[in-house]
Amino acid sequence: MRKEVCTIGVLTSGGDAPGMNAAVRAVVRTALYHDIHVKGIYHGYAGLLEGHIRNLSLRSVSNIMETGGTMLYSARSPEFYHIENVRKGVLNCRAANIDGLVVIGGDGSFRGAKALSDEGIPCVGIPGTIDNDIASTDYTLGFDTAVNTVVENVDRLRDTTQSHARCSVVEVMGRHCGDIALHSAICTGAVSVLIPEIEFSIDKDVIDTMKKTLSAGKNHFIVMMAEGVTGNEFTEDEHLSAAMLAKYIQDKTGVQTRSTVLGHIQRGGRPTARDRVLAASMGSHAVRLLRDGNGSRVVGERNNTIVDFEITEALAMEKNVDWELFRVAKEISL
Ligand code: F6P
Repeated sequence: MRKEVCTIGVLTSGGDAPGMNAAVRAVVRTALYHDIHVKGIYHGYAGLLEGHIRNLSLRSVSNIMETGGTMLYSARSPEFYHIENVRKGVLNCRAANIDGLVVIGGDGSFRGAKALSDEGIPCVGIPGTIDNDIASTDYTLGFDTAVNTVVENVDRLRDTTQSHARCSVVEVMGRHCGDIALHSAICTGAVSVLIPEIEFSIDKDVIDTMKKTLSAGKNHFIVMMAEGVTGNEFTEDEHLSAAMLAKYIQDKTGVQTRSTVLGHIQRGGRPTARDRVLAASMGSHAVRLLRDGNGSRVVGERNNTIVDFEITEALAMEKNVDWELFRVAKEISL
């Protein structure tokens, strides 16, 4: 007979993302609704190893939905890849009477969740990362907020870029995924977008496009680049920085060019309504999975429907670039 789930734990892991708090709230409220106790594990897997575990009540998650960051704190915990630490995590869960765990984080965090599930603590993952780099879901928690943050900031940048008839190169986050750059490029009317998934030539895709639009009367430009791109015109695998690209553009086009790296600004701020709804739906689904005896799963959203997959299956999925969106970005940029 399957063991009844009386207490679940929840932790946030990896880079924080807006919407994590809303997800924690949804997990706590759903669990308590179903008479399941909840314990918060602080500082991610590192906190699990050190036993930073506290009860979470209905009121302990009041007024957090609208806040960025994570009330549970987060950490990258490479030490959790070692099996002896996973086993220590299992012992600490057992000592705290935790029957199942919700892990909110990216694919590294899901690997930890898989290891814990294999060792006897059923875990359900919720994709929480601004990067939108998880193939088993159309959208990760925090992505929509991050794109909106980029757009808000580039709108400001555009004012000064336009006033001085300049070009601004904007570097955004995403690690090896170009989704933040691609979506932001469309929303800000960028003349070019460079993402790691699609090969490009700076001369052809940036310089020639700018020259074409210059001769058609355009005098200010936004060039969007993802942090993970390498520079073809420089060397095969050299990391292309925004400053490097700005200098190249200025030298080749004569247009004064500045670079802006938005950096960790993209990780903070109030989650958008979209991310709050996603957090509520995913948090609720994760708790129901654990309640019904399902572990080793990750939650996702596919075609506006909440879905779940076995963790290994989810991690093996390949994230495809949205070619259609890339085509749109290119065609409407001139
Ligand atoms: O995964 C989220 C993310 O913000 C990436 O976009 C970025 O490459 C990375 O984390 C930065 O990590 P850290 O905050 O550890 O420097």
